[in-house]
Amino acid sequence: MFTYQMPTRIRFGTGESSQLPDELTKLEFKRLLIVTDPGIVSTGIIDPISESLQKSGIHVETFDQVAQNPRDSDCLYGTEVFQGIHADAVLAIGGGSAMDTAKTIALLAKSGGNPSEYADGHRPYQEMAPVICVPTTAGTGSEVTRSAVITESFTHRKMTLKHEKMRPILAVLDPRLTVSVPASVTAATGVDALVHAIEGYTCTITSPISKAYGAEAMRTIIPALPIAVSDGKNLEARTKMLEGSLLAGLCFGNADVASVHCLAEALGSVYDTPHGIANAIFLPHVLRFNAQDNIALHADISRLMGYSNDAQDDDHAVEQLINGVFAFTQSLGIAKLRELPDVNERDFDKLAALAFANGSTPSNVRTITLEDYRMILSNTYHHA
Ligand SMILES: [Fe+2]
Repeated sequence: MFTYQMPTRIRFGTGESSQLPDELTKLEFKRLLIVTDPGIVSTGIIDPISESLQKSGIHVETFDQVAQNPRDSDCLYGTEVFQGIHADAVLAIGGGSAMDTAKTIALLAKSGGNPSEYADGHRPYQEMAPVICVPTTAGTGSEVTRSAVITESFTHRKMTLKHEKMRPILAVLDPRLTVSVPASVTAATGVDALVHAIEGYTCTITSPISKAYGAEAMRTIIPALPIAVSDGKNLEARTKMLEGSLLAGLCFGNADVASVHCLAEALGSVYDTPHGIANAIFLPHVLRFNAQDNIALHADISRLMGYSNDAQDDDHAVEQLINGVFAFTQSLGIAKLRELPDVNERDFDKLAALAFANGSTPSNVRTITLEDYRMILSNTYHHA
């Protein structure tokens, strides 16, 4: 038994972002709030889009105060800006942080309250302003998902707001916009997309549709990511990565993520670690833990990712998967846990508790306890 819902219109292709004025005019939007971050503004991506929209008669205001791990306070401030200009819709241009902030602003502007109230189930998701997403990284897939991850400022807790109403109405994916992303961010966001495919494929609430998307995402990302990292101007690799992250979004967006994300979000909330880097650090260690009870499933993943073939038995395929993923993340230059600033073993009990309390813990394919999280943290920290 499963349900699969995807109302987002998707436009994909080089140069497609130039179609935004046409698309938004058809939707009869007159006043738009662009949500982005200062890094994106400095790449010069925003100005031409904003100017082309204004030429089409759409009033545009830009809110560029999005943080790396977006905070509730930013969303509340953005909501005031949205209401101040009487906007009809929110246009997110950026990575997952911009898109998640945009979704949350669109929710707060129409349904009131603050992000914690929704995450804790104290306020119903009533109405949303329409959200349009233009991703500039190949990573989060947030352009097609129903969730937003927001940090509660005073507790540093990462909260997930999740509702079918939060799905964007339109996603415009233009690989050209991802060409200027630095190699380190390309690597981190690309591994995030890979983890979405793996966790969406393996989680307890997956479906045949999610698995089909996840399988294709894994097959697409593994060969494309090293090229996109080493040769950022390679438009073919950038296109494949944007395709892979979209497919991964379509995979987990109707399923869930699992323990890699639970640990990554805990790390991000305590040390502000970029999401993709945190995911990459934990991925091989969680795979090793999960595979112990789910050998055939992980052998499948190993074959999908090209680390083994049908001629090899499942045990061998799983071994190849773990070794292959370790080598893959290392080749992309991902830091080790103990190399990250401020990370201290004294915090591991707190990190384990945060990961265990994450709403996606029950979705992990292998039942995982607080002690298991503690053990994985320790293994990751001490791994050579
Ligand atoms: Fe993610």
